[in-house]
Amino acid sequence: MIPEVDVNRKISEVAAQVSRDYEGRPVHLICVLKGGVFFTCELAKRLTVPVSLDFMSVSSYGSGTESSGVVRIVKDLDEPLEGKDVLIVEDIIDSGRTLAYLIEILKQRGPASIRLCTLLDKPERRVKKQVKVDYTCFSIPDEFVVGYGLDYDQKYRNLPYIGVVEF
Ligand code: IMP
Ligand code: MG
Repeated sequence: MIPEVDVNRKISEVAAQVSRDYEGRPVHLICVLKGGVFFTCELAKRLTVPVSLDFMSVSSYGSGTESSGVVRIVKDLDEPLEGKDVLIVEDIIDSGRTLAYLIEILKQRGPASIRLCTLLDKPERRVKKQVKVDYTCFSIPDEFVVGYGLDYDQKYRNLPYIGVVEF
């Protein structure tokens, strides 16, 4: 769907935008594991503001390719969020259920601000309309995609491009 060169070019553009928006302020990136890890690294490398990184792993109960919105924290953050300008980095926003839940939890920890940055967005699939995405690399149609961190049954995360799964 999206070749490696296009993904990398777009990440550079978004990183430049983030760097402009946060100018003079450190940004605290929260990588949502596992899918967000490739994008987080590529984004972080291109930011010109001071960066700190933390990781969180959530598991969204669901069957097959559908999330339920019932989210369990598998690995919590190491650092407190108090007073920090937090940027959540996700692989993909689909229904928005995972993020809606995560944002509610993280807000309670007293960050100065919370913004959301995603590699991919499937706006047609959104159920949680209140989830506001601040930075999107690509809006894509409703297809199941893999690569650049995204998996199907834990496979294909390492593909350096975004590919479509044909079931
Ligand atoms: P949501 O809670 O429905 O927004 O689901 C978000 C999560 O579902 C993402 O973090 C992914 O792990 C997974 N997901 C949604 N769509 C895709 C896809 O097309 N490929 C791989 N994983 C996906
Ligand atoms: Mg996943």
